[in-house]
Amino acid sequence: MHENNLLKNNPIGIFDSGFGGLTVMSAISKLMPKEDIIYFGDSAHVPYGSKSKKVVTDFAVKISKFLIKNNVKIIVIACNTASAFSLNTLKKIVNIPVIGVIKPGSVSAINNTKNNKIGVIGTEGTIKSDAYPKQIKKLNKKIQCYSQSCQLFVPLVEEGWLNSEVTNKIIKIYLKDIVAKNIDTLILGCTHYPLLKKSIQKIIGNKIKIVDSATAVADSVKSLLEKNNLIKQKGIGKYKFFVSDSPEKFKNLGSKFLGNRINKVVKVEL
Ligand code: DGL
Repeated sequence: MHENNLLKNNPIGIFDSGFGGLTVMSAISKLMPKEDIIYFGDSAHVPYGSKSKKVVTDFAVKISKFLIKNNVKIIVIACNTASAFSLNTLKKIVNIPVIGVIKPGSVSAINNTKNNKIGVIGTEGTIKSDAYPKQIKKLNKKIQCYSQSCQLFVPLVEEGWLNSEVTNKIIKIYLKDIVAKNIDTLILGCTHYPLLKKSIQKIIGNKIKIVDSATAVADSVKSLLEKNNLIKQKGIGKYKFFVSDSPEKFKNLGSKFLGNRINKVVKVEL
């Protein structure tokens, strides 16, 4: 087979600190059902959101090496914190295309805003890095960005408390100030947050459009594959899941994030 055909048939590599990136995988597999995917969830080290840039980047480098050993043709950093901290480093050290979630989400929010006021919510790491406001300003100087870290959202989602009274109260408290800034667009800058989308929308009202970067990332992955002539042409996508801790927990909760049953998960030591 011609070398490029071999590459075309290689899988897409996706990683996250745990389950969250499965929301991105779900969007990618819907858009490109022929593509094979290898997903790595770093469940031994979740959450990334409260860790330092150096620690998260060390994990991201190890995971990327693992994915490359498994012949992936592109790496998708399906985690906002790892994208904010590690995208530039990974781009320098790997020789296949790498894509994070910050730019696609920012572009999608910029395309939506009419009043040039965008809100961003995410983990402590993502918000402190200022990655979204910097990216948005780079693309459009006129836009005002308002950020809020929502540290309790990840554990609430991991507990499956997606629409409880406590969750709604916490959402209200976190989003009060940002909504008062008259934003018309809100970026869910964390891969766990799409599972809270319905509850968040109910609380902030329908006038504010929620941008969940998963679909924007899937579109960008497709464009990047097209640009590099790497789109798989035939077959039905096969999926492999790897984790750094408890495969059982990943199977159960992961199915919720993916919106599909996960049958086999393999634990690996990096
Ligand atoms: N996946 C992370 C993100 O998108 C959230 C979970 C974590 O803190 O590890 O930022």
